[in-house]
Amino acid sequence: MTSTTQHRPPIAIVTALRATLPILFFLLIFLYLINSSKLLIYPPQITTNINCQHLNTSNHPKTGHDTELKHIAFCIAASSKLWNSRKEYIKLWWRPGDNRGAVWLDHEVKVNKTETETLPDIYISQDTSRFPYTNRQGHRSAIRISRIVSEALRLGLDDVRWFVMGDDDTVFVVENVVRVLNKYDHNQYYYIGSSSESHFQNIFFSYSMAYGGGGFAISYPLAKELAKMQDRCIKRYPGLYGSDDRMQACMAELNVPLTKEPGFHQNDVYGNLLGLLSGHPVTPLVSLHHFDVIDPIFPGMGRVDSVKHLLDSTKHDSASLIQQSICYDIKREWSVLVSWGFAVQIVRGIMSPRELEIPSRTFTNWYKVSDFRAYAINTRPVTRHPCQKPFVFYVNSTRYDESRRQIVGIYSVHRERHPSCRWKMGSPEKIHTIVVLKHQDPDRWLRAPRKDCCRVLPSRKEGVMYVWVGHCGETEIIEV
Ligand SMILES: *[C@@H]1O[C@H](CO)[C@@H](O)[C@H](O)[C@H]1NC(C)=O
Ligand SMILES: *[C@@H]1O[C@H](CO)[C@@H](O)[C@H](O)[C@H]1NC(C)=O
Ligand SMILES: *[C@@H]1O[C@H](CO)[C@@H](O)[C@H](O)[C@H]1NC(C)=O
Ligand SMILES: *[C@@H]1O[C@H](CO)[C@@H](O)[C@H](O)[C@H]1NC(C)=O
Repeated sequence: MTSTTQHRPPIAIVTALRATLPILFFLLIFLYLINSSKLLIYPPQITTNINCQHLNTSNHPKTGHDTELKHIAFCIAASSKLWNSRKEYIKLWWRPGDNRGAVWLDHEVKVNKTETETLPDIYISQDTSRFPYTNRQGHRSAIRISRIVSEALRLGLDDVRWFVMGDDDTVFVVENVVRVLNKYDHNQYYYIGSSSESHFQNIFFSYSMAYGGGGFAISYPLAKELAKMQDRCIKRYPGLYGSDDRMQACMAELNVPLTKEPGFHQNDVYGNLLGLLSGHPVTPLVSLHHFDVIDPIFPGMGRVDSVKHLLDSTKHDSASLIQQSICYDIKREWSVLVSWGFAVQIVRGIMSPRELEIPSRTFTNWYKVSDFRAYAINTRPVTRHPCQKPFVFYVNSTRYDESRRQIVGIYSVHRERHPSCRWKMGSPEKIHTIVVLKHQDPDRWLRAPRKDCCRVLPSRKEGVMYVWVGHCGETEIIEV
């Protein structure tokens, strides 16, 4: 793709070589003689450094221009029964005028005129009563939902490169949807999404299935192929449970595997998401799901408000949302875990990065069993030691400081009871606010994945801790 060599017949090359070789040979000897007799002063060493800025950092060959938000059609599966509450989640991430796509409902809903401007267009799904459905646990709406991609394709929207499916309670970080899809060539067949956090779910369904609640993307040409065969395909699998396993069954018939992007989150967990979010893999946060099932991600705040509050942090650096940084307050012997734009945690004592980076089990399993083997990801137990209960600081506000060209994040302590600790070291109790400083980094995912480094800065204010987060220095490693 990068080569521009002209193709010449080999005979011509041989003839050309024959003619020029003796000349070259003499030229070299001549140069050598001149060089060794120091008659000629060589110019300074010709630079052999590769200038990295000129290299294209994308590791996937692509054709055409970058994918933008306007190239993505979001297809949202919603139910009329839950519409009144679920639409509030859609409003949080939907940008009227910028986002394209629509919502598909099972029945008509009452539409408030002023609201239509803040929500996607609404379509009623086609009748699917002719399709067989025999699964006893599931609901036949699964068929309707799996056909949304094909229905979306038939709307004939122009210049669409990707169809992104989601549920009415899926919240997308749209900038990161774009970042992730931009890595792939939309002219090829791609089925992109992620598994469940529950190992059991993945065994029942499949590790090769993109979970619908976490959302998944299908490239335009693949959607076209799918639409040709989907109805026939659906009829072959009446016993499947949901829409996403029906989709995967058709993908298997199309010979297209799942391309895993771990930033899509089905969130098959209950309880407190703190551990899961602060242990996020080093990849952009693309989606979150199941907000009606989990606790509000900021304690004391409503479910919708807390998602809105998290998304507020994307205004200044969407690429870095919830990205993890680990550092230590050496003097006070504390470990500091930053989940940018979301929370900072302080733990007494020095915990190694390999432990700290693992999600702590603040949440419980989808099948409500307390067995760490039930997860499809590594997790670590919540420490029982009275000294090691983390002090949690949730983001209060983020703003951009024009003069310092930095994002200033204020994180306030979450007041909760801490058991008494006998370790002879300073207590994080005295800290009520953490200020996190960071430069904007919209291009961080064009580079190889790497966590930001963090440094605890000196502070003269009582009860306030300053932390800097950003590119690691030349030899900066997390070493204590
Ligand atoms: C010329 O001499 C320099 C050092 O004196 C050497 O590095 C270089 O390779 C020589 N060039 C040739 C063509 O022999
Ligand atoms: C980098 O990629 C863009 C778009 O894919 C292309 O226009 C440009 O020529 C490429 N640059 C280099 C140095 O290959
Ligand atoms: C329409 O929706 C808006 C926004 O949710 C709300 O403020 C307004 O009261 C609603 N109007 C009616 C007539 O329900
Ligand atoms: C931020 O802090 C202020 C002052 O302490 C408080 O009144 C406000 O409720 C906090 N907001 C959030 C979202 O935590």
